[in-house]
Amino acid sequence: VSERLREHPVLGKAPFREPVRFTFNGKPVNAEQGDSIAAALLANGITAFRHSRLGEPRGLFCGIGHCYECRVKVDGVNGVRACLVSAVHGMRVEAEAEGRDGR
Ligand code: FES
Repeated sequence: VSERLREHPVLGKAPFREPVRFTFNGKPVNAEQGDSIAAALLANGITAFRHSRLGEPRGLFCGIGHCYECRVKVDGVNGVRACLVSAVHGMRVEAEAEGRDGR
């Protein structure tokens, strides 16, 4: 279920954007053209993008590329900051294997 603001009391209705689909840990994610990976994950109710070495969930924190908390693996490439990279149709996004539980 996508959680998006479709109409704002001041800004009005959100414009239509083309749908984009990708996967996160093998599960489908519905995004919209122009979404960052982080925005798409959040809109799909996914807040833990990876886990720390201690097994703690990590996700969006600064949202501007400074903290590196949102790192994910994209099409086999580790260390991609989900808040900076746009969602692309068909991309394979995975949680980085960093935690002791292998996630
Ligand atoms: S949320 Fe801080 S770098 Fe992405």
